[in-house]
Amino acid sequence: MPKAKLAVFASGTGSNYDAITEAVKYGKLDAEVALLVSDQPNAKVVEKAKQQGTPTFVFEPKQYRDKNAFEEKIVNVLQEHKIDWIVLAGYMRLIGNTLLRPFEGKIINIHPSLLPAFPGLDAIGQAFEAGVKISGVTVHYVDEGMDTGSIIAQEAVNVTDKMTRDDLQQAIQQVEHRLYPETIQKLIARGESQ
Ligand code: GAR
Repeated sequence: MPKAKLAVFASGTGSNYDAITEAVKYGKLDAEVALLVSDQPNAKVVEKAKQQGTPTFVFEPKQYRDKNAFEEKIVNVLQEHKIDWIVLAGYMRLIGNTLLRPFEGKIINIHPSLLPAFPGLDAIGQAFEAGVKISGVTVHYVDEGMDTGSIIAQEAVNVTDKMTRDDLQQAIQQVEHRLYPETIQKLIARGESQ
C-alpha cells in the first residue's frame, strides 16, 4: 500500500515537525512528510524543512485578498502533492471552511493543554498562571472553532511546586514529541478519519 502523505503545517520552531520526521526516519511512523506549509517565511521550521529536502509551501497571508484566497491556494497545492492528512504542528491560525471542507476528518492538531481547558494562545502560560497541578497535551480533530474538535488522544503532565514556566513547557513538549507521532501512526494504521 502506498504510504500516507502528510502535510505538516507550522508557524514556529518546528520541534514537532522534527519529532514527526524523526519518527518517519526511524520507522516508527509509516508515512511520508510530503509537504511543509508555513505562513511565516522566516520561521525556523521553514529552514529545517529546506535543509531536509521536504517540499515547502510558504505564503504571506497579507499578500492575498483574504483568508479564502490563501486557503484556496493551499488546497490546490495540497491536491498537487496528493496529501492524505494535514497535521497542524504549531500552525497559529484558525482553519477556515475553504480548507476544512475538502479535508474534513483528515486534519488534526496538537495543543499543549488538556482541552477543553486553556484553548487558544499560550496555553502553557495560561495553565501555569492558573496554578493547575495537572496539565498535559491533547491531539484532536480540527473543526472551525479554536481548539474545539473532538479529542483523539490526551496525556497528563504533573505540575510540581518547584517547576518554572519553562520547566512546564519542556515537560509538555517532551510528551508532544512522543504522543503526536504515535497518534498519527495509529490513525494511519486504522485508515481512520472522523
Ligand atoms: C507546540 O507546543 C504546540 O502544541 C503548540 O505550539 C507549539 C509549537 O511548537 N500549538 C498550539 O498552541 C496550537 N493552539 P513547535 O513549533 O516547536 O512544534
